Amino acid sequence: MAKRMQANFGDEIRIDMDILIAGAILIDVGKLLEYDLVDGKLITSSAGKLVRHPFSGAALAARFDLPPEVQHIIATHSKEGDLGYRSVESIIVHHADFVSFEPFKS
Ligand SMILES: [Fe+2]
Repeated sequence: MAKRMQANFGDEIRIDMDILIAGAILIDVGKLLEYDLVDGKLITSSAGKLVRHPFSGAALAARFDLPPEVQHIIATHSKEGDLGYRSVESIIVHHADFVSFEPFKS
């Protein structure tokens, strides 16, 4: 998507591919805290009932001094980011994330 946008829009748009890829790889890292494995089944952890993975993932990224631009992608990739600002990289990751599972619901 990013490459196609760059091809289509050229200098009108600036996309940082390193930030985009780092953010895309890490968007769901917070799920490590959101879920527990109990008797072979994934269940929502007690922490996950209070803090969904966009928040815990952004906190993990901050803890390891990842750039704020990467923290932003993690924090805004899901519905939690719908009401606020999204960078170009975050918009791309958000849509790529949703097209990878939304059509398979139902
Ligand atoms: Fe997610």
